[in-house]
Amino acid sequence: MRFLNLAGVCIAGLASIASAGVVPAERVNVVEKRATSTTTRVPDAACTNGPLTRSCWKNGYSVATDFDQKFPTGGATVTYNLEITNGTCNPDGNGPRLCLLFNGQYPGPTIRATWGDNLVINVKNSMKDNGTSIHWHGVRQYHSPGSDGVNGLTECPIAPGDSKTYSFQVTQFGTSWYHSHFSSQYGDGVVGTMIFEGPATANYDTDLGVYPLSDWYYQTAYQINAITLQNLANQGPPPSADNILINGTNKNANGGGSYSQVKITKGKKYRLRLINTSVDNFIRVSLDNHQLQVMTSDFIPIVPFYTNWLLIGIGQRYDVVITANQTEGNYWFRANVATDCLSGNKMGALAIWSYDTVTAGTPTSSAFAAVAAGCYEPAGITPYWKQPVPSSQFLNSPLTVSLTRASFTPGGELHVLWAINGSSMNIDWSYPTLSYLMDKNTNYPTDLNVWPSSAEGSWNYWLIQMAPNMPPVPHPIHLHGHDYFVIGYGNGQFNQSTASLNWANPPRRDTATLPGGGWLAIAYPSNNPGTWLAHCHIAWHVSEGLGVQFVETPSQVTLPDSAAYKKTCDNWKAYVPTSYWKKDDSGL
Ligand code: C2O
Repeated sequence: MRFLNLAGVCIAGLASIASAGVVPAERVNVVEKRATSTTTRVPDAACTNGPLTRSCWKNGYSVATDFDQKFPTGGATVTYNLEITNGTCNPDGNGPRLCLLFNGQYPGPTIRATWGDNLVINVKNSMKDNGTSIHWHGVRQYHSPGSDGVNGLTECPIAPGDSKTYSFQVTQFGTSWYHSHFSSQYGDGVVGTMIFEGPATANYDTDLGVYPLSDWYYQTAYQINAITLQNLANQGPPPSADNILINGTNKNANGGGSYSQVKITKGKKYRLRLINTSVDNFIRVSLDNHQLQVMTSDFIPIVPFYTNWLLIGIGQRYDVVITANQTEGNYWFRANVATDCLSGNKMGALAIWSYDTVTAGTPTSSAFAAVAAGCYEPAGITPYWKQPVPSSQFLNSPLTVSLTRASFTPGGELHVLWAINGSSMNIDWSYPTLSYLMDKNTNYPTDLNVWPSSAEGSWNYWLIQMAPNMPPVPHPIHLHGHDYFVIGYGNGQFNQSTASLNWANPPRRDTATLPGGGWLAIAYPSNNPGTWLAHCHIAWHVSEGLGVQFVETPSQVTLPDSAAYKKTCDNWKAYVPTSYWKKDDSGL
């Protein structure tokens, strides 16, 4: 059996897909279905990963491995130390502003590990007046929900002066990012990127590494967040961002600052890891004259497809391959704000890509024709290995997104806030959901927005629906602890008799777009006990309560080390009475 068009020399034998641990009955069926399909890809032991065989890995693992059930064991332990400090930054030359930084830099250091490794990341909070918790976006946190980094769900915030060790196994491969989950703090710089080495569905010569894209503001995230909250009272939009950064840099409106620069060699293929690390902006990218061959959606290997322009929602990643096959010269890489997603920015970003035989200089290339407006998931996302979703259990449980009036403190000032099924999410930093589990307390206050998951091994189906007459802004919906299958999406109100739903081989990822005023139908199997946040990744919106948490099989949750967990909470509770800033949003 051959890896179609991919590896050429990569010959795969029929390998057992038996996994370590218990395979839910539901999933076994799915695996069997896949094994009989004509596009079967099975783990391969025979070939070695290389420029022409990127689908291979080693020891019986490949891009065909079902990483929900099987991943390399016995990996290395990889340790990082991250310290967060108050500082200043000036990424586009507009002038220094206050920033909160990992190891003194923006973006923070790239965390690199290999599929199967165990990451140990020591985070020290040396900020003056801010708690924090650090989330590893897209990481499944299998058997390690206490390392998900969501204050109020999986930990108390880390108090100034305190440290916490996050440890988890790298069960997937690809590209992602990490960021603070303490209110809108990541907008002030508490952001970094991650590369997990593994196989891929397209071949390339050179990995250019991460290319984070971000909106950028000259005021702090806390200032913009406060203005956004006021604007929402009249259903007004948030302030526009001041600029977009590509790999942490761009010129500003006055010409200061500098462009990101990349050198390429004619005839070579390059892997580029695109990540939208914005707080508010959907971003559309392209490289003049060069098509993007897209090979992942978040951590999911996909059947490669080509596009000129690629829309990237907040929190989403795409790994692309770019072939240097054009006339040797200088070309613009463009990162534009997606106004059709109602994202606002005063600028767009450029970067200069140069062939190494020419003098790097200002490109004269012109942009590909603009694509038709529309803030939807890109067409053509097909997971590399086929995994059908059973339609028989589809219950169509609605999570309806609307606005409500609520307060962040009992008896406090009422604000217009986002809500799901009428309840705006508002967590308690000092008594996280994992404490409820430890205390066997199921008395969750309404505004923790706790929803039970289906039994282990069976499927969850959620229909995320915008209520009628809401501001028609698209929401990038991110789920922790799982990726999910995008069964369908559309405009207006969902109608089961007319909606076209994809059960056969739906797109799969951890962040997808809920169309403005529309609906998004998702599914995923319960296979990871924990408590998992699902939220809009527009930082202002989750700050304003647009989230829920799914408590999955509480009796089987692997709880964190109780002494370390308790120490974080005790230090946080001792800090709160002396703290300068008090909680004034959902906390997320
Ligand atoms: Cu990027 Cu709740 O996460």
